[in-house]
Amino acid sequence: MNNFNFCVPTDIRFGKGQIACLPEELKKYGKKVLLVYGGGSMKRTGLYDSIMNLLKDFEVFELPGIEPNPKLSSVEKGAGICKENGIDVILAVGGGSCIDASKHIACAAFYDGNPWDLVLDRTKVCAALPVAVVLTICATGSEMNSGAVISNEKTNEKLEINTPLLYPALSICDPSYLYTLPAKQTAAGTADMISHVLEQYFQPNDGAYLTDRLSESVLKTCIRYGPVAMKEPENYEARSNLMWSSTVALNHLLTVGKGGAWSVHPIEHVLSAFYDITHGVGLAILTPAWMRYVLSDKTVNRFAMYAENVWDIKESDSFQAAELAIDKTEEFFASLGLPKTLKEVGITSEKFGEMAKEAVRTSGIADRSYVHLDAEDVEKIFEMCAG
Ligand code: NZQ
Ligand code: ZN
Repeated sequence: MNNFNFCVPTDIRFGKGQIACLPEELKKYGKKVLLVYGGGSMKRTGLYDSIMNLLKDFEVFELPGIEPNPKLSSVEKGAGICKENGIDVILAVGGGSCIDASKHIACAAFYDGNPWDLVLDRTKVCAALPVAVVLTICATGSEMNSGAVISNEKTNEKLEINTPLLYPALSICDPSYLYTLPAKQTAAGTADMISHVLEQYFQPNDGAYLTDRLSESVLKTCIRYGPVAMKEPENYEARSNLMWSSTVALNHLLTVGKGGAWSVHPIEHVLSAFYDITHGVGLAILTPAWMRYVLSDKTVNRFAMYAENVWDIKESDSFQAAELAIDKTEEFFASLGLPKTLKEVGITSEKFGEMAKEAVRTSGIADRSYVHLDAEDVEKIFEMCAG
């Protein structure tokens, strides 16, 4: 097992009714709140009114309209509001998109140049406003991690800033807020959590036994409860187990003692930067193809372990076990109604070469990932998904 540091300072308040703590907790930071939210789900569900009622003694400024795959222009707008009004704390209500935009705004509020500079050079991130979260979709783990993924619409880049200053101070995770999620978002969120675990599971270190067993438990939880939440949107047991899985899947717990660059995410980030598709949908399409592409004598044992411990597949031939597990992974995503091919989401081969180069340029996939892949390899993976 590798050495590691593990320090996650986010205060998680999990369960029904936890939102009641909001005034008490926010007042620790001051009176001026920037409320960041998306395209309207929060108003339709009544959450907006509940929050405004809880914040009646605060001065609330609003930044609505954060788009899925949040854009740099939204960050610029938010940073402007913070600077002009002396905002004390940012409250993100939504999922990864609102949280990530809020994190980027939080550090852009202390920076005089273009906020994109902070993405390209994280040493420029010197301070950040506190960010509190009310989570309404479980998927990214952004509620308890230090990453923020932002799209620069001018350059077609979708990149991450990651620094300890960006951990949310507080995250309220009430599974009943997930009841209103459209089925497509439940499915995409489940695929995203699974992918987060797989990115950390498929790494070369064999000594981190506990980390691997924890990862398998999170995978089994997603596989058990994803379909239940799809069929019964108001099943609290399913929603609560999925919500906690999304947090655990990417709060660094499943990477301790291991390490290495991710593989499928950098490829997907390029897809959603170029075509603005839903992140979890892109991952569901790419993951089985990546698995098939990297399966070899060198990787087969870990795939066979995945087959046995996650899918209960026991075969004397490790390759056969691995292939069956990859098929199961693909079937599981399809059973959630997720597309299998790029064609189904309207993507043709036109930009495969350009996107493959970009995925390699903007990540550690060529020299630090589980199986090193160059642009030609990534292009072949795109071709396998073409449909
Ligand atoms: O905008 P509104 O109207 O609120 O609708 C949202 C949005 O359209 C809707 N929604 C959310 N909660 C709802 C709801 N609809 C009904 N009822 C509710 N309770 O869901 C849609 C998707 O929301 P979004 O925040 O975009 O989803 P997600 O949490 O999957 O975030 C995706 C973004 O996070 C990035 C992705 O790349 C993408 O940009 N990621 C962030 C990571 C991180 N910070 O650690 C890691 C991930 O790998 C990922 O890259
Ligand atoms: Zn993800």
